[in-house]
Formats: sequence, structure tokens, C-alpha cells
Amino acid sequence: MPREDIHGRTLTVQGVEIPKLGFGTWEITGRDATEAVRDALELGYRHIDTARAYGNEADVGRGLADASVDRGDVFLTTKLWYSRLRPAEVREQLEGSLRDLAVDYVDLLLIHWPNPDVPLAQTLHAMAQLRDEGKVRHLGVSNFPSALAREAIEIAPVIADQVEYHPYLAQPELVALARERDLLLTAYSPFAHGRLLDDPALEEVGAAHGKSAGQVALRWLLDQPQVAAIPKASSHGNRAANLEVFDFELSSEERGRIASLARGVRTANPSWAPRWD
Ligand SMILES: NC(=O)c1ccc[n+]([C@@H]2O[C@H](COP(=O)([O-])OP(=O)(O)OC[C@H]3O[C@@H](n4cnc5c(N)ncnc54)[C@H](OP(=O)(O)O)[C@@H]3O)[C@@H](O)[C@H]2O)c1
Repeated sequence: MPREDIHGRTLTVQGVEIPKLGFGTWEITGRDATEAVRDALELGYRHIDTARAYGNEADVGRGLADASVDRGDVFLTTKLWYSRLRPAEVREQLEGSLRDLAVDYVDLLLIHWPNPDVPLAQTLHAMAQLRDEGKVRHLGVSNFPSALAREAIEIAPVIADQVEYHPYLAQPELVALARERDLLLTAYSPFAHGRLLDDPALEEVGAAHGKSAGQVALRWLLDQPQVAAIPKASSHGNRAANLEVFDFELSSEERGRIASLARGVRTANPSWAPRWD
């Protein structure tokens, strides 16, 4: 599809314009990550998701530098690892991210997972300080259930919660909160970490539009207000296919059928996960 169309696919939260479809980089490292990010940007992605914990920020930064795309046109997210959230550690982590990514600022800095051992206000105030210094454009959280996300919003100008969200995992509380408080809800693992790619119902819906199960899942997510999605794909073909989701429409009946596939599948549920909604 033409690049202009992709550029048009943005949403605005709290006055901030964000490309709805991003590129996830978890589990891609080294030259593969550099090449994936360069290729993704040249295909038309303008939103890249990484994290301190992915160990690939230097590779991602090289991809960003190699692509013939201006830094200012890319919405770049990174995340602070949850075990180092005290103020000095927040600064140290972000400075490491900026150094490795070889950028002057990130567009969005997230707390990767909540950590009940560190007062949330301490971490958010440290992040806000980095924002005041221009090193971070916007603040957010990740893996915050709705009550904790509400707490965060009261403390600092948080614009986003990045959580697992796909047709196998409904997120009614967070969807409602995002609408109520004008938050970005970034859907990570939009393919349930690959598990829903051969779902028969999604395939059947896709067949009616000449699309795959994965493309149907992305369309379903991106049709929702406040929602962005960040699929990961290792190959050029899959990265390109995941962009081909803006040229068809799901009917309300199809959308209902997709929503009915929810079955509580959570692919990211480590020992340090919070108590979910
Ligand atoms: N905040 C958090 O705690 C958190 C947690 C998990 C994920 N994330 C973010 O979300 C991103 C995406 O999530 P994810 O990596 O867990 O999984 P995902 O995007 O749900 O699924 C990735 C899987 O789908 C496959 N795939 C992608 N496009 C495809 C296509 N067109 N056809 C067939 N297969 C396709 C990939 O295979 P190939 O790689 O072989 O193409 C890979 O196996 C991550 O990279 C990361 O940036 C954040």
C-alpha cells in the first residue's frame, strides 16, 4: 500500500499524535534487529517499540540511523526495567537507553512492569524530571492493571499503558479507562505471541476479505478508539503483511464474532506480574 496511507493512520491522545501501528522488537537482537528496524521504517512503520531489557537498543538505534527516515518522524518507545526504578536508577537507565539508541530523546518512556517495592510517585517524578529536561517527550506505564494505572495518572501526566491485548484476551477495564482518561492503550503481543495466527474463526473472517488471521486481529484492534498495536515480525514478508491492514473493513457482526473469541489467554505472565484486572 502507498506510504502516504500509512502515515495517515494515527490517533491522538492528550494532544499527542501517535502512529497506530508500531513495530515490536522483543526477541530480535544484533544485526537482525538493525536490519528489521531499518526495513520496517523503509516499509512505512513510524512507531518502534523497544526496552532496556530487550538488550537490543544499540541494534535498534543502528537501524534507525541506517533508514532513510528522519528521526523526528519516528515515534520511539523504550522501557525502564522494573527492578531499577529508584530515581537515580531511572536516570541511569534512560541515559543508557539514549546512549545505546544514539538519540537525544525518546518519544515515550514506560515503566516496563510495576514494582510494589518502590513508591510509584518516586519513579514517576524522576521520569517527569527527565521529561522536563527534554530527554523524554511523554511518560507511560506498561503491564499496569486499571487501578494502578489510575494511581499513576493521578501522580504524573501519563499518556499510555502498554498491555497484552488481542482477540484471545479481553481488556474491558483498561479499554474503559483509556476512553475515560484519554490514554493510549498499546496492544502488545497482538497475535498472542503467534498463537492466534491459525485460528479458524479469524481465518474464516479473513477469507471473506482476502486477509490472514493476523491481519484480521490487527484490524480489529486498530479499529478501537485509543488503541495502537505493535506486532513483531522477523521477516520482511511478515513485516509488510502486517502493514496491509488499512484497506479493508470489518462489519459489526465480524467484530462481534472476533470479540467472542476472548478466552483469557495471557502469554506474558512472569512471576513479578501484578494482580491483573
Ligand atoms: N510491555 C511488555 O511487557 C511486552 C511484552 C511482550 C511484548 N511486547 C512488545 O510487543 C511486541 C509484539 O509482541 P510479541 O513479539 O510477543 O508477539 P506478536 O507480535 O503477538 O507475535 C509475534 C509472532 O508472530 C509471528 N508473525 C508476525 N507477523 C506474521 C505474519 N504476517 N505471518 C505469520 N506470522 C507472523 C512472528 O513470527 P516471525 O518473527 O517469524 O515473523 C512471531 O512468531 C514485542 O516485540 C514487544 O515490542 C511488550
